[in-house]
Amino acid sequence: MSTPPDDPQTAAGYAVPHWIEACQLDDLTVDQPHGLRLSGRSICVVLTPGEVFAVHDACTHGAIPLSEGEVDHCAIECWLHGSRFDLRTGEALNPPATEAVRTFPVQVIGGTVYIEID
Ligand code: FES
Repeated sequence: MSTPPDDPQTAAGYAVPHWIEACQLDDLTVDQPHGLRLSGRSICVVLTPGEVFAVHDACTHGAIPLSEGEVDHCAIECWLHGSRFDLRTGEALNPPATEAVRTFPVQVIGGTVYIEID
């Protein structure tokens, strides 16, 4: 399993104001969505075979938690009506959802997952 490269500035200890510690990489299982609350927001974190992604934990069709859905090939599927969202871009890949889900930048540093929340 590979992880995104460390950001040397951040790894050196420079604080980046909006990066929030979300979880440990070891807390995540490949292709198993993980829902959590960060700064009052519901976030769905997904470890794929090559990268970690974070999206708003709500389907844009019916506000169902995407963390209760299934992941396949960098897409997460809402269990209620089957809309799939691209984890890289948030794009809705099939109806009934037509609106993209918000994505959040992710960094993995020293086994810790950080998510940029504004
Ligand atoms: S609530 Fe998610 S596709 Fe309808």
